[in-house]
Amino acid sequence: MSVDVAAVLPTVDEYCGLRIATGLSAMDPVAAVDALPRSRYAVTLREDGRLVGMGRVVGDGLHVQVVDIAVHPDWQGQGLSRMIMEKIMEFVDTLPASTIVNLFADIDWLYQKFGFVVPEHTTGMSLRRNG
Ligand SMILES: CC(C)(COP(=O)(O)OP(=O)(O)OC[C@H]1O[C@@H](n2cnc3c(N)ncnc32)[C@H](O)[C@@H]1OP(=O)(O)O)[C@@H](O)C(=O)NCCC(=O)NCCS
Repeated sequence: MSVDVAAVLPTVDEYCGLRIATGLSAMDPVAAVDALPRSRYAVTLREDGRLVGMGRVVGDGLHVQVVDIAVHPDWQGQGLSRMIMEKIMEFVDTLPASTIVNLFADIDWLYQKFGFVVPEHTTGMSLRRNG
């Protein structure tokens, strides 16, 4: 396996397709056209030009959120998510130490090794409006 890692955005079609392929919720492609270029940082992994993994950081630099960490099912279990998170942490390390870095995750094993913790005295909340 030879995977190219680049700090660039996926296309809207690639992004929407990878979310669905990985079982993440479907995103509105029209909203994605506006939203993706506003990313603070993005990393894409490609094999033979095909998008096989990605991750993004969004936010304003004071508060940022790690989002859209996804590896295509055919490429899972080969350490690609670690490659994605290593690039993301390189970007996070360029931000001021005061910047608050959050994420919402279905899993904790991926993020704990990069220093993320479940806060003791804070409750993360989200509003799901699509059922
Ligand atoms: C979660 C996901 C990104 C992981 O990607 P992946 O490339 O298959 O994961 P990796 O192969 O890089 O595994 C990362 C590490 O976790 C370990 N790991 C894998 N599965 C694990 C599990 N169930 N429990 C504990 N550790 C696990 C691996 O051994 C590896 O350890 P290492 O970095 O020390 O070698 C991928 O499964 C995915 O896209 N899932 C669907 C979308 C999703 O859930 N995204 C995250 C939203 S929060």
